[in-house]
Amino acid sequence: MPASISVHSDHSIDRISENIYGHFAEHLGRCIYGGVWVGEDDDRVPTEDGIRMDTVELLQDLDMPVLRWPGGCFADDYHWEDGVGPREDRPKRRNLWWAQGREERFIETNEFGTDEFLELCQMIDTDPYLAVNVGSATPEEALDWIEYCNSDADTDLTRRRAENGHEEPYDVTYWGIGNENWGCGGRFAPDEYADQYRRFANYLNGFDDHINPGSTEFIACGHITDEWNEAFFERLDGGMEFGPGTFLGMGSPYKLLDHFSVHRYYQAGDDADFSDEQHYRLFARAQKIADDIDSAAETISTYVPREDVGIIVDEWGTWHPQATPDNGLEQANTVRDALAAAGVFDIMHERADVVSMANIAQTVNVLQCLVQTDEENAWATPTYQVFDLYQNHSGNTAVEANINADKKYFDEEDHDVPLVSASASVGDDELFVTASNRSLDQTETVEVEVDETFGNPSGTVLFEEKGSRAYSTADNAAEFEADDITVSEADDGRFTVDIPASSVVGVTFTK
Ligand code: AHR
Repeated sequence: MPASISVHSDHSIDRISENIYGHFAEHLGRCIYGGVWVGEDDDRVPTEDGIRMDTVELLQDLDMPVLRWPGGCFADDYHWEDGVGPREDRPKRRNLWWAQGREERFIETNEFGTDEFLELCQMIDTDPYLAVNVGSATPEEALDWIEYCNSDADTDLTRRRAENGHEEPYDVTYWGIGNENWGCGGRFAPDEYADQYRRFANYLNGFDDHINPGSTEFIACGHITDEWNEAFFERLDGGMEFGPGTFLGMGSPYKLLDHFSVHRYYQAGDDADFSDEQHYRLFARAQKIADDIDSAAETISTYVPREDVGIIVDEWGTWHPQATPDNGLEQANTVRDALAAAGVFDIMHERADVVSMANIAQTVNVLQCLVQTDEENAWATPTYQVFDLYQNHSGNTAVEANINADKKYFDEEDHDVPLVSASASVGDDELFVTASNRSLDQTETVEVEVDETFGNPSGTVLFEEKGSRAYSTADNAAEFEADDITVSEADDGRFTVDIPASSVVGVTFTK
């Protein structure tokens, strides 16, 4: 059966937040140290204030909307004051989570800290998202951090910021209150974390209220199980029966929660060496993000109008068996990973009414990175190209797209996988459709039906003839960039495009 995509441009879902194309960079392996920060004395790559500019240029070209830092698990054993001030005075500290017995990962040198991170965000014109230490620190430490970053009052901390070269506040909007607090972030029970969350958010929100109302947004750590999420929301009011959602609802002076986060990683077979069955199974596992979002949305809606609290998928992507703590969670990033990312974006577009942000793990060198580096080069992975293409949806209104395609069927553990994944959005006088053909070996002729006010299609394709197991290197990365593809007009609002096996297509229609 030939596949088809029927786009209903009058059936709007919601605006697609720019922030769903967000990133995550942790002090882990070579993500920050080596990938972003090489220090001022390194002359192997061009640097500015110790930051490697080849990585920065790739990230600048990507229009990255938001970057989460410093963890991950790292965050809940990190004390931000260790990383500010003259670099030669900064203490070396342990960090438990990415130590795993290996000396060089056990030691955090603190060369790269808050000011370096926020300068990086300014260089690449992205919004910072800071993850606060809840597991092993205090609300006072968190409050000091927000004051250091955002206050324009004359205080000891803002004077220190000025001495460190930053007179003006950074105005950081996004504050995550802990990370995976059911695990590395303190191993809290959900009701214990709700108590901690309320306590930390009370102080951070107090800063917001007194200093700069409405300028910050707070993110609670959720889980992919309903048990954790329900118990967290149940307890958030502290058992005081202030009324449903007192600490949640828009309009409440005590609104302590803006977003609720979930994480999802997946694998099937090895990074670049997988069976045909595993090729397809990876998409089935990535699709579980849809269930995670749907069940978190349902839980939230029990406690508060759903639009008051957005869902953030602030860690997602492939985590193959090759990525271990011993190699700094590095893995080959193939076309298969990139196809899985395209499918995840299709899922998020379809849920644009509830997803407020997403942050792929991780930006440079670690897990499903977008940029890889060696000592002299930085290059884009296939996943980078998917981000670049899909960001044309950014800020558009997601619209319904019904897909008719053959499926791969799995057992009960994994969902069936349609061989074509797609989504569509409407911007100013434009309709943008993305579609991927997940077949390992068959070109798929896809009929795209659009509202007849749209026409003049122009198409681009990623990964034509590369194959699912291909990955980029310093030498061949340009081969993974987009090419033009022909989109033919059939009749009255019907178009066809031959999507090559294991490739992704973007088609823009104009009025
Ligand atoms: O991204 C790697 C790790 O995965 C993060 O530190 C942690 O939050 C998650 O378990």
